[in-house]
Amino acid sequence: MIFATNNAHKLDEVRAILGDQFELTTLRQAGITEDIPENEPTIEGNALAKARYVWQKCGQSCFADDTGLEVDALGGAPGVHSARYATDGHDFAANRAKLLHEMEGKADRTARFRTVVALIIDGCEYTFEGIVEGAITTEELGEGGFGYDCLFRPDGYDKTFAELPAEVKNSISHRGRAMRKLAEWLHNQ
Ligand code: IMP
Repeated sequence: MIFATNNAHKLDEVRAILGDQFELTTLRQAGITEDIPENEPTIEGNALAKARYVWQKCGQSCFADDTGLEVDALGGAPGVHSARYATDGHDFAANRAKLLHEMEGKADRTARFRTVVALIIDGCEYTFEGIVEGAITTEELGEGGFGYDCLFRPDGYDKTFAELPAEVKNSISHRGRAMRKLAEWLHNQ
C-alpha cells in the first residue's frame, strides 16, 4: 500500500504500529514528487483529498493521514492549519513559537491532537479517527518526536510527547489510535 507521506518520523511510527505484514511505499517511491494540495477546510477533507490524489495517479491501494492540534483557548486553532500556522512552509519551530506566543497568559491550556486516516481500496473510501486529549505546556520540553510534540503533554502523563519513549507515544497518540483502527479493519478483510 502507498502511505501518502514523505515524513520519515511518521513512516517509522506507522510501520511500528501496522507491523510487518503490510509493505508500505512512500509517495517518493510511488513516483509522486509534487506537493499534494491540502486546501480543504477540515482534517477529514484533507486526508480524503490526499488519498484520492494518490488513487487517481497510481490506481493502487493507499492511505493518507491528516492531523490537527486543536487548542480550546484558541477556538480550536491551529486545527486544520497546524502545518502552516506561522508560515507557508512546514516550519515546526516557527509554529511552536507562534503557539507559545498565542498561549501567553491563558489559564485554560487544554488541547487535543486529532488524526483522520483516509483509506482507498478498489476505489472505496474509508476513514478512521484518533484523538488524544492533553494540555499545552508553557515551554518546550524534550528532544524526541516532531512538530508540536515538545509542547503537548497527554492527559495522565507528566511528560510531553517529546519526552516520552516512542512506544509510549505510539500507544496513546492520535495517529496511533487512528492507525490501529485502520490495522484492525485491514486484518478483518
Ligand atoms: P499532518 O497533517 O500530519 O502533516 O500534520 C499537520 C501538522 O500537525 C504537522 O506539520 C505537525 O506540525 C503537526 N503534527 C502532526 N502530527 C504530530 C505529532 O504526532 N506530534 C506533533 N505534531 C504533529
